[in-house]
Amino acid sequence: MIRFTETVLRDANQSLIATRMPYDKFEPILSEMDKAGYYSCEIWGGATFDVCLRFLNEDPWERLRKIRKAMPNTKLQMLLRGQNILGYSHYPDDIVRRFVRASVKNGIDIIRIFDALNDVNNLKVAIEETVKSGAMASGAISYTISPVHTLDNYVKLVKEMAAMGVGSICIKDMAGLLTPKNAYDLVSAIKDAVDLPVVMHTHCTTGLAFMTYLKGVEAGADVIDTAISPFSGGTSQPATETLYYALKEFGYDPGLNEASINKIADYFKPVRAEFIEKGTLNPISLTTDTKCLKYQIPGGMLSNLLSQLKMLNASDKFEEALLETPRVREDMGFPPLVTPTSQLVGNMAVQNVLAGERYKNVSSEIRAYCRGEYGRTPAPINPEVRAKILGDIKPLEGRYADTLPDDTFEKTKEKLGDTARCEEDVLSYIAFPSVAEKFFEKRKADEEKVVKFSIERIE
Ligand code: CO
Repeated sequence: MIRFTETVLRDANQSLIATRMPYDKFEPILSEMDKAGYYSCEIWGGATFDVCLRFLNEDPWERLRKIRKAMPNTKLQMLLRGQNILGYSHYPDDIVRRFVRASVKNGIDIIRIFDALNDVNNLKVAIEETVKSGAMASGAISYTISPVHTLDNYVKLVKEMAAMGVGSICIKDMAGLLTPKNAYDLVSAIKDAVDLPVVMHTHCTTGLAFMTYLKGVEAGADVIDTAISPFSGGTSQPATETLYYALKEFGYDPGLNEASINKIADYFKPVRAEFIEKGTLNPISLTTDTKCLKYQIPGGMLSNLLSQLKMLNASDKFEEALLETPRVREDMGFPPLVTPTSQLVGNMAVQNVLAGERYKNVSSEIRAYCRGEYGRTPAPINPEVRAKILGDIKPLEGRYADTLPDDTFEKTKEKLGDTARCEEDVLSYIAFPSVAEKFFEKRKADEEKVVKFSIERIE
């Protein structure tokens, strides 16, 4: 049997249309999605939280509760950046625990937990609290390629996550760099090492995804992440229906309701058309781009480098910056290139090229990274580079989160007063302070408008 996780409401939505799909747009199809027989639906976390508050004027918690109600029979899944929760900075353990508990309380069944550096110290608390809350923790590998990212090291990571109590292992290939051969080898190695379901996550960016899934499934993968066809391909996941038909022919039981997935596809076709018309969906996101296979740099990072150089009137330095990027990455201990490390490494490479001297202009983020605030790097940071960047600053001993205050929640709650109506409001504010504040103000103003309107009607 092979099971499917449908990503249309989270990753596909995020990858193709910057998470701009409002709740009302997909509400009518939720009950059909509930009948499709998915292993799970990824619906929350990642950018959905921020975008709901910032652009859609939606309370992300309310969205979660509504989906829960409309889909009582399907496991709801979210993506969590370990100790960073949904953002890019580290939070105290108490906040991580509260966030996990609130997510489960509001309807989440599976939390996929990852860390940009694959540092288990950044996964531990979130995994522990997920299990304690009665949900399933899925331990994710941030997949990358480097001399230290060997099968042995991945297996070591997987075993550590298994010991922490995860219910499944996810291979999270955020850039579409996982090749069919490497997928086969990696899934086989994980399957040999632990007795846990293996979930595969990739993107079609480089065009490998369908082959990668097929080889991964042949090696014993249990679940694949796919997106219903109108929101599949390009920077999104491979199409659900395509893999359904292909795998079924090979004798796997996909466990999906064929009529349902076709209805879901029909529903999302005009939705996609609307976003193309509005210009939110750029057809370029739907094409195949193999450049990242050559440079082994995620596609998003290539375009960031180019636009950064353009802004600085230095487009002619693109080749140089491209060559500098892997060197910086090596100096930094081969971090997987995913947010926020992709920005750290990319910006540093640009600065090195522009300054004409390496590590002369250094951002506070790179300094924090070298200090150890992001966690343990896959390989040691180049000691000379580290000494130059840190100067007199002392490197951190132990875990950064242990140095953070543990009364953040109480203090924030007190500060917000009546503005925060529940624990979830306080957590929204801690995750995205200014965005949440604006949302709370707007919520109050809207309610006052409604009250005024009803009083007028009574009069
Ligand atoms: Co993804």
